[in-house]
Amino acid sequence: MSDTSGEREKREAGRYAADLVGQGTVIGLGTGSTVFFAMERLGERIKEGLEFAGVPTSYQAAFRARQYGIPLTDLDENLILDLTIDGADQVSHDLSLIKGRGGAQVREKIVAAASRRLYIVVDESKCASHLDAVVPVEVLPFAWATVTGRIATLGGRPVLREGQGKDGPVITDNGNFILDCSFGALSDPAGMEGTLDRIPGVVGSGIFAGFTKKTIVIVGGGSGCRVLPPSRAPHH
Ligand code: 5RP
Repeated sequence: MSDTSGEREKREAGRYAADLVGQGTVIGLGTGSTVFFAMERLGERIKEGLEFAGVPTSYQAAFRARQYGIPLTDLDENLILDLTIDGADQVSHDLSLIKGRGGAQVREKIVAAASRRLYIVVDESKCASHLDAVVPVEVLPFAWATVTGRIATLGGRPVLREGQGKDGPVITDNGNFILDCSFGALSDPAGMEGTLDRIPGVVGSGIFAGFTKKTIVIVGGGSGCRVLPPSRAPHH
């Protein structure tokens, strides 16, 4: 199969992370195209004898995991996960993240919180000095208009995410709407994450500022991966 350069970088990062999964572990399975490459490699490793189970963060992750023969479990059975492999839309130098292009950020955050380590797999285009990408915010449909108003007063520009293949708003795996919010550069990602979380009707935002201590970012570069921070580079 011939990859575009972006795909080659994603494949490298995904496969690198998949090789870090240990025998007998329980892992979180993130959503998105980069994680697919990790799952592809995990499928190969299952055929080589690796035994583990995955907690999917979306219908998409569950469907793809089943395709690669990955046994699935859930958080009811596993309160603590050994690690999670997930993608990101943007990664800042301090390892805070923006996620949710795929609309899965609420389950992704729950699974990340339950995990001892969070492996974030990205290509170089996702790395930034500070976070300034669009922030997806999942909201209860009942509250979407009031939350829109509150976010506007915070200086954001919220846009209701519209579907493809369906007229009207995107409905998340949890039955909610998504507001894609432009704030410009986030000077205090943790502060903004907390502020958004406190708005009544917000289910969860795509700002991930609380996991920096356990986050390891794997950046596919086309001819090898680099790990952030380098001090957390696993023995590979
Ligand atoms: C889904 C996500 C994804 O992990 C993020 O959008 C990255 O996706 P991709 O690996 O396809 O670029 O947060 O909600």
